[in-house]
Amino acid sequence: IMNNVNKCRHFYENKVILAPMVRISCLPMRLLALEYGADLVFCEEIIDHKMLQCRQVQNELLGTTDFLWSDDSVIFRTCDLERDKVIFQIGTSSADRALKVAKMVEDHVAGIDINMGCPKEFSIKGGMGAALMSQPEKFSEILTSLVKNVKKPISCKTRIKSDLEGTLEMMKRIEATGVSCITIHGRTKEERPNDENHDDVISHVTCHLTVPVVANGGSSMIKTYKDIEVFKKSTNCSSVMIGRSAMWNPSIFRNQGCTDDVDVVIRKFLKYAIKYDTFLACVKYCIQQFMHENLESYKGRQMLNSTTVREIW
Ligand code: FNR
Repeated sequence: IMNNVNKCRHFYENKVILAPMVRISCLPMRLLALEYGADLVFCEEIIDHKMLQCRQVQNELLGTTDFLWSDDSVIFRTCDLERDKVIFQIGTSSADRALKVAKMVEDHVAGIDINMGCPKEFSIKGGMGAALMSQPEKFSEILTSLVKNVKKPISCKTRIKSDLEGTLEMMKRIEATGVSCITIHGRTKEERPNDENHDDVISHVTCHLTVPVVANGGSSMIKTYKDIEVFKKSTNCSSVMIGRSAMWNPSIFRNQGCTDDVDVVIRKFLKYAIKYDTFLACVKYCIQQFMHENLESYKGRQMLNSTTVREIW
């Protein structure tokens, strides 16, 4: 078992990772991030109740494995290209449901992650996300049961607490469950993206853990690939997870240094979006983020008015 734990830990070392982002971290975005050089890619958080209502369908036309909801909408679509790289993130407050969901997808993904950081009202009310931070018994039960019963590496993504001692205690408790890594977003659940990320707290915590830590929360400072190295150093982590910087321009993962122009990014994204028959609203939402300040332009308005993905192209 120990060997297996070490192998799983290795999996999360020296990685640059696309963060889970609702409506953003869809299949075309994940494949584009990988094309640009991301090592691992997270899917958006999927709520356990919703996933448990899905049925698995092998989509022969697209070459994908789909998990479809009762109304046939795609809740999770994946393909062989990302099989060894995609981490499936679950929103849950129950060890039993989390395990059922993990069992549904374990043969199709590289790892399973539990969301222990989302501060949104929907999550907190349901006892999910950041609500788990104050329930050590509950998160231990969820993580332990997954580590014991699932073939793939188990991880969780969480935030810091307002005091260092409390933060360390929680992280130690998470580590003790046998997870393969902990992603730490260096903000408390009350802090917003505009507040400064506490790189120093991540760095301090990392020194006291043996489990790999993935640093997160640096996007305000990450404009080029070089800034990723700076963030790694200031957090003392070998792996980093990037959210907003990748959402604005996924070519941030290119280690050659320069990022691609928005137009090139959009073209590449659309290629995957068309190939994998992606839901129009999701495609538009992603392109809006790539274009952020240019939506009022002619191209921006044309994009928003399109009624099919091919029309955007
Ligand atoms: C997020 N974030 C997030 N986190 C998570 O664990 N599951 C999720 O589904 C989401 N969804 C999501 C959507 C959008 C639009 C944003 C901007 C963020 C949080 C995200 O993964 C990350 O922790 C933060 O954005 C901080 O990292 P960056 O952006 O500074 O790199």
